This record gives sequence, C-alpha cells and structure tokens, in this order.
Amino acid sequence: MEIIQATNTPGEFSKIEKAVELMEGLETLPAVAQRLLSLTADPNASFQDIEQLISADAALTSRVLQIAASPLYGGQAAKNLQSALVRLGLREVRNLALAASVSAKKADDFNRGLWRHSLGCAVLAETLGNRLGRSRFQEPFVCALLHELGTLVLVNINGPVYGTLVGTIGGAVQAVREQQLLGFTHCDIGALAAERWRLFDGLSQAIQFHHEPLAAEVLDFPDPVLATIRLVALTAAVLSDPDAGAQSDMAGQMLERLGTDPTVLQEERERAQPRIDEYSQMIGA
Ligand SMILES: [Fe+2]
Ligand SMILES: [Fe+2]
Repeated sequence: MEIIQATNTPGEFSKIEKAVELMEGLETLPAVAQRLLSLTADPNASFQDIEQLISADAALTSRVLQIAASPLYGGQAAKNLQSALVRLGLREVRNLALAASVSAKKADDFNRGLWRHSLGCAVLAETLGNRLGRSRFQEPFVCALLHELGTLVLVNINGPVYGTLVGTIGGAVQAVREQQLLGFTHCDIGALAAERWRLFDGLSQAIQFHHEPLAAEVLDFPDPVLATIRLVALTAAVLSDPDAGAQSDMAGQMLERLGTDPTVLQEERERAQPRIDEYSQMIGA
C-alpha cells in the first residue's frame, strides 16, 4: 500500500481532490472483499460462486468453519465448507466472510476499534432491518459494515497526521472537525470510494449521510435508499460514543421515521449481541 509522507500542516490535506487522487493508489478493501461485494450485487451469482471464492482463501475458509461450529449454529463442527454454507445460509456466509475479509486490514488498536464499531453496526442493522421488514432496505449489513470506509481511507493515507488534525475519531464530532480543518469529511470520502464500485443503490448514500440523515430527506431518494440511510445512521449513533448527546436525539428521530420505538431497538440490540460477540471474536476485534 502506498504510504503518503507525513505532512504537518492542515493545508496539505485541504483538498478533497487530493484525497481522492491518493485513494487511487490505495487498496481500500482486500480483493476478496471487493469480489464478495460484486457477487452480492450480481443477481446471477450462485452458491458455487461464493463457495469458490471463499475456498480460495484458507484463512477465510477456516473462519467460516469456526463460525458454523459455534453455539449460535448448534455447536457441531461442519464437515466442509459446503455443509457450513448450507447450515449458515448464503446471506450469513456472505456477511461473515465480508466482515472477516475487510477486518483483516486491522493493524493496530485504532483499526480494531473501528472494525469493532462497524461490525456491531452491521449486525444490528441486519437484525433490526429483518425485524422492520427486509424488503424495506438495501443490504443493511453491507452498508453499516462499510459506513466508516472514509475514516479507513483517511487513516491509511496518513494515520498519525489525520489523528492529530482531527483529534476526535468516532461520532459526529469527527465529521464537524474534518469539515473545519480539511474542507471535507470522512463521509464524503467514503461515499466517493463506494461510488466508484457501482455496486448497488444505497451504499454510497448510506455512507454519505450516516452522521446527518436529516439532510437526505430533501433529496429525491427512492424509499429503500432513504430507509437504509436512516437505519445505518441509527445504528451508527446508538453504537457510537455514549457521551454523544446530540446523536441520541438523532437516534430518536430515526426510530420515529422508521416507524418503530426504543423498546424494539433494545430488543434487537439484545438479540444481536451474541452474534456481535461471535463475529468480534472471529475477527479478533
Ligand atoms: Fe462516521
Ligand atoms: Fe460510525
């Protein structure tokens, strides 16, 4: 991966074009994660395609087998990848393979924390999305898993300088500081990166608006895109810093717009927890 030389002045970081240019040389996600995402977006992709892709990666295969043998799925070892796929189902395998492959990038505590947060959001978005009606949303797991993609890009361009510039990483404060210091936010960068993949409607929008979902309401998005933006913003807010008071107001507004209430959210958080723990253990987060 290309590492950009340290710069010490905010001015050097001040143009979104520069960040986008840097992004060109950056391996934003591992190849296997990108391939899994394309398979997700491809209506003709089959069970065999997914199996083939995962089996080409030994570490990923062993993680899928481990999860299939976990108490979540009855605690019995799966004979092979194919039987693990049958036991877990295509969506679940896709989700966990994606989580395992993207989080393989974690190299330090910061990245680990970022993925733990993203993974929690992904599992909760999936669980809550299922409860509220699967067809109302566009790939909640993937959108929530990748909502901090822009942070990953910026940290990978130059982690120490970015950290010093921004000061606070996590929560809406991060975006506000980025806007002041850089003239763009991790939301802008993440949305641009996702836009380039042209995977499915809603991914780049969910990333773009995860800290300000109300701003998406004046734009003319189809219902499933808007609902996904709200769901991702909600999970990101409730699993973010607990001291972020403004975010809990936002979470309340999102719950209302999604036609549900805090009791349902609490139930789904409890339901999601064992899976979040299992996934986090798997990826070492
Ligand atoms: Fe964020
Ligand atoms: Fe977040």
